[in-house]
Amino acid sequence: MRFAHISDLHLSQTLVAGVRADAAAIVEQLSRDILRISEILDFVVVSGDVTEDAEFASFRQFEDMFAQIGLPVYMVPGNHDGPAVYYNCLDQFPTLSSWDITNKVVELPGLCLLGIDTCIEGETTGRIKADAMKIIERESARRGAPPLVIVMHHPPITTGLQEFDAVSQLEGIAELHDIIKRSERPKLILSGHVHRPYQGRIDGAGCFVAGSTTSAFAPDLPFGSSPILFRGLQDFYYVYEVDENGRYVVTPQHFPYVPSE
Ligand SMILES: [Fe+2]
Repeated sequence: MRFAHISDLHLSQTLVAGVRADAAAIVEQLSRDILRISEILDFVVVSGDVTEDAEFASFRQFEDMFAQIGLPVYMVPGNHDGPAVYYNCLDQFPTLSSWDITNKVVELPGLCLLGIDTCIEGETTGRIKADAMKIIERESARRGAPPLVIVMHHPPITTGLQEFDAVSQLEGIAELHDIIKRSERPKLILSGHVHRPYQGRIDGAGCFVAGSTTSAFAPDLPFGSSPILFRGLQDFYYVYEVDENGRYVVTPQHFPYVPSE
């Protein structure tokens, strides 16, 4: 199956430091590009922080832009989405609600998706809660099942950049690693949160951090103690092809964007 992975759009009703003022225009262009290539895609994965401000209007903006693509969307919340407000929105926005896969297993031809909410209300760091851990354990232990794609906001890998790793500490990470180590089921884990793409591997699981199209950070050095400097635009997202054996190919897809200022 083929899909686009995006994260950390940070749509906002007010201007905020650390997010481009033209974030909505960038996300509009991003969604247009996914629409343009939609004939070769099966779905879109969103790993949280679709909003910066957890405002209903920002969730509505996201819903409007991505509903136009016409592909299934599968998403989980990020820490900026509340996540309490995110769940309130699901009660009122049927389309958004149909996209949420928190603690759900979506069985697709040749692939399963599992969404995990790793957020703690009011905190930047994350936690894999007990109910979610049980689902991960159960799904990881399924023998002969198609590849499992876990979607969560906080990365399951250490990036090696201190400032990123400080804000992405994840309670339950040791248990997750243990589950992955015992599991023979092919797995990918898609995440966001740190606004720079990283790719890594935990035992049998390929792990991918999507970066942020509207709030990219670019430290002077990719690993170590460099401060995370605001860069702004990341004019690409990632497209995946995963076969029924868990073999995969991932490539960045650039979208055209010319700032108006
Ligand atoms: Fe974010």
